[in-house]
Amino acid sequence: MKSTTVFSATLLDLPVISQEKGNITAINGGIELPFDISRVYYLYDVPGGASRGGHAHIELQQLIVAASGSFDIILNDGHVKRTFTLNRPDKGLFMPSGLWRELDNFSSGAICLVLASDKYTEGDYIRDLSDFKEWKSN
Ligand code: TYD
Repeated sequence: MKSTTVFSATLLDLPVISQEKGNITAINGGIELPFDISRVYYLYDVPGGASRGGHAHIELQQLIVAASGSFDIILNDGHVKRTFTLNRPDKGLFMPSGLWRELDNFSSGAICLVLASDKYTEGDYIRDLSDFKEWKSN
């Protein structure tokens, strides 16, 4: 969606089943999330100082969780930038489509778990920031 702003992204409190032997967080598409989950992927072994993202999605919706460690997500809607620090496995950033994102400041051992609404399609990416700003303004 072209019209989304950085304020359309929300930090969700994910449910925790807490037991003496450890915790479980379960995420159900359509219940904790406003979309059905079609794909799961995760970033790991990210070298210190590396930056990921640097693109927007035309249709894809995502939930991003720091399954381990921490990292920052900087969102940009063409006008406003907003930074979220993810550092707990029971918090998830819901990201609607139409937002430019960059991920950086990965801690050692960080795992960035992504639940996505669709399969990978390169045609859903906007990888040039100028193209993104033009797309948002039209
Ligand atoms: P990209 O989404 O640009 O990575 P990031 O945003 O984390 O920096 O993807 C990097 C490469 O991996 C790119 O060539 C596309 C490929 N890729 C897949 O083939 N399938 C996938 O599900 C994802 C997320 C990426």
